[in-house]
Amino acid sequence: MNFDIANPDLAEGGARRVAWAGRRMQVLETVRKRFRDEKPLDGHVIAACLHVTAETANLMLALRDGGAEPILCASNPLSTQDDVAAALVAEGIPVFAIRGEDDGTYYKHIHAVLDHAPAVTMDDGADLATILHTDRREIEVIGSTEETTTGVIRLRAMAADGTLRVPVVAVNDSATKHLFDNHYGTGQSTLDGIIRATNVLLAGQNLVVVGYGDCGRGVANRADGLGAKVIVVEVDPVRALDAAMSGYRVMTAVEAAEVGDIFVTVTGNKHVLRQEHFDRMKDGVILANSGHFDIEIDLASLHRAAKTRRPIRDNLEEFELEDGRRLLVAAEGRLVNLGAAEGHPADVMDMSFSNQALAAEYLITNEGKLEPKIYTLPPEIDQQVASIKLAHLGGGLETLTQVQIDYLSGWQEGT
Ligand SMILES: NC(=O)c1ccc[n+]([C@@H]2O[C@H](COP(=O)([O-])OP(=O)(O)OC[C@H]3O[C@@H](n4cnc5c(N)ncnc54)[C@H](O)[C@@H]3O)[C@@H](O)[C@H]2O)c1
Repeated sequence: MNFDIANPDLAEGGARRVAWAGRRMQVLETVRKRFRDEKPLDGHVIAACLHVTAETANLMLALRDGGAEPILCASNPLSTQDDVAAALVAEGIPVFAIRGEDDGTYYKHIHAVLDHAPAVTMDDGADLATILHTDRREIEVIGSTEETTTGVIRLRAMAADGTLRVPVVAVNDSATKHLFDNHYGTGQSTLDGIIRATNVLLAGQNLVVVGYGDCGRGVANRADGLGAKVIVVEVDPVRALDAAMSGYRVMTAVEAAEVGDIFVTVTGNKHVLRQEHFDRMKDGVILANSGHFDIEIDLASLHRAAKTRRPIRDNLEEFELEDGRRLLVAAEGRLVNLGAAEGHPADVMDMSFSNQALAAEYLITNEGKLEPKIYTLPPEIDQQVASIKLAHLGGGLETLTQVQIDYLSGWQEGT
């Protein structure tokens, strides 16, 4: 078996972490049990480009239980958990991922998984899908799945200009993905990453959240709960108003630059913090990004403007500017929750990855019937996933009476 990982000897510790995560992924376990009986993915190679975490390992095992041959590479050079990669290799699942790999190795690993001639690709950020539409057009797949907002945006752009040549399931668009993973998962794990990288107390700090979407709302809400004074920067007036009515101060990025102590970018956009903002920032501010790519903070400008740069702690680097101010960047400006912490907790990846497993099944069972466009999983799947998770949280679910069903479907009854 071909693979490329940091150290196979880490497998035992990795396996323990995979098992612990698996205990908190009850929906995925339900899917897995059915997969074991029905083998809906039988004989299909599934190439996944996902963060190599304990939760992803559980998805890989579920796919294998469904009869698939999963192969995994990383969707970010800094998010790989080397012990988990080793545990998967020990299970016989090929992994091509090393934490801290350079860009050349990152792309070599992407090509290595594609060399296995996958039937389905699974992305977090659309890197496999992009290569399938550029360098590796000879590979024919049944379809692809996409985990994150940024990937879905890239794939929709491909569909809009007629480039897309395969059906894609936008897993991010499932309610049981983005309403929970992006909000609660990114909310908690982003702060976890900042805390692990810096060990600062958030209480009393001006914490600026740039981007108040599904993820940004989660970050703002959790930071507020820890006593930070939250400031929101948005370009969408409706979202900015939502932030204002949630009790946060809303400012332009230039205004926020002057008062912020900690900055978190989570927009899916480019250079939302740049030189004009660095110029106004206070000495000692902390910059972190939780959006998909490491381009939200214009690090190239910061590198050019810095007189010196030096490591301060694991995953924290200081840039000293000509005027003596020091700006600190967490996790190289890459996803701070994965670079400096462990990513989303298993409890929430449970739903995201159940949707991923079901999306692979959807593509395989509908082979030949789907067009090259972006699909969302049927709403019944959201209902099922949510019902199972709710039951595990001990929640009861009310049901409509016949009188209520008739009322909601009629129009005659009024004042
Ligand atoms: N860290 C993680 O583990 C994780 C998890 C899920 C999603 N993501 C990524 O986080 C990013 C955001 O995802 P989302 O689901 O919240 O997206 P979203 O589209 O719901 O929200 C993004 C928000 O950013 C705003 N925005 C865009 N440009 C801006 C600018 N220049 N200044 C201020 N605001 C701006 C948009 O108006 C929007 O409200 C994406 O890149 C996504 O892929 C990361």
